[in-house]
Amino acid sequence: MAQANPLAARSPVRTLLTRLAPTLAFCLLVLLPGCQGHDGPRQGQVTVVFKHGKIAGDPESFARLIARFEDLNPDIRVKDEPLPATTDEQHQFYAINMEGESSDFDVLSMDVVWVPEFARAGWLRNLSDVLPPARRDSFFSAPMTAVTYGGNVYAIPWYIDAGVLYYRKDLLEKYGFAPPTTWLKLVRAASHIAKMEPDMYGFVWQGKQYEGLVCNVLEYMWGNGGDVIQAGDVVIDSPQNREALDFMKDLIFRYEVSPALVTTSIEETTRHIFGNGRAVFMRNWPYAWTIFERPGSPVRGKVGVAMLPRFPGHETASTLGGWQLGVNAYSEHPKEAERLIEFLTSYESQKTLALTVGYKPTLKSLYADPELRGAQPFMAGLYEIMEHARPRPVTPYYMMISQVMQPEFSAALAGVKDTEEALASARRQIQFILRTED
Ligand code: GLC
Repeated sequence: MAQANPLAARSPVRTLLTRLAPTLAFCLLVLLPGCQGHDGPRQGQVTVVFKHGKIAGDPESFARLIARFEDLNPDIRVKDEPLPATTDEQHQFYAINMEGESSDFDVLSMDVVWVPEFARAGWLRNLSDVLPPARRDSFFSAPMTAVTYGGNVYAIPWYIDAGVLYYRKDLLEKYGFAPPTTWLKLVRAASHIAKMEPDMYGFVWQGKQYEGLVCNVLEYMWGNGGDVIQAGDVVIDSPQNREALDFMKDLIFRYEVSPALVTTSIEETTRHIFGNGRAVFMRNWPYAWTIFERPGSPVRGKVGVAMLPRFPGHETASTLGGWQLGVNAYSEHPKEAERLIEFLTSYESQKTLALTVGYKPTLKSLYADPELRGAQPFMAGLYEIMEHARPRPVTPYYMMISQVMQPEFSAALAGVKDTEEALASARRQIQFILRTED
């Protein structure tokens, strides 16, 4: 005799489950995958993989920005994957993977000096329609030039950088120094204050053998009337450049205002030293200021930002830096990738990134944004610095040229090679690259 299962008859839980069965089935099929959040894509959803450098300022707000994009674009899930800290390591990652036609990532963040090289290699999707000519003027012109190759736009400027001088306002005031406008004034102030204050370095900067070293050295060379290539001629071994590089060496060995550790320092090394209150001056990019002003920062309210000093008779010079977003030519989701780029480079996203992470906008109008200026008063002065920042040579062979300059500059700074010899050797190698690649 068929006996009804007593449990089936009596258990309220079972009854409830039976009644809810159709709803639960629906949830399992349709909704549950969506509840996985960042662990997996929902049905019909496309995953866009976004590679970029480590976010130094505020990774949580960056994650919130990505989540906002996902809310607005429910058909896209973003997997963001940070790469190692230095630009050189990131370049190597992209070069190896795109050479191998990898479709493992869709959106890539590119240093301002790479776009011509990547575009020439056919690794980037043409984004000219994403950024039509009428909208190009709203961006700073130097990064716009950097992302344009053969008349087409291959990336959208995301944030802009220029070398600036950070100084300890409180200490300069205490010892009666004004923010230095020449390098020798900096030496005087740094040397005096570092002697008077315990455990204090005078001036820290990025001198490790990598791209950041080239950015630093060029600022002294340009600020002394020198250059690398002028009207097609390689002029890197000029007397002005020798003087500039020797001066950097003197900062360490003669004036002793920069500790020897600068020769192995990258941006974050120096940012930590200065941020812990252990240096009077620092050369860095503008992102660091937002970090210094966070609650709990030992230097909060004590930091000033100025243009880099110059040599007498010359103009100050900042290296143009910054990062651009492009789409991998081998991406299987190029349209979705473009939507992410449009979102991240929009006015609102650039503003959020400026306020939270400290990345400086590539859209010129943001420098007049009242909220941004209120939160970061030095934004006003940054506009001028950004407008005049000098690009490193804009050529598809830039990284080859840089890889010649890096070891030569580094050897000269460390004193293992005579400056004249290092620059002459750099000239010969750069001439060779330009002759063979043309
Ligand atoms: C910053 C700049 C980039 C430069 C790099 C050097 O990331 O934005 O352009 O190449 O520093 O370390």
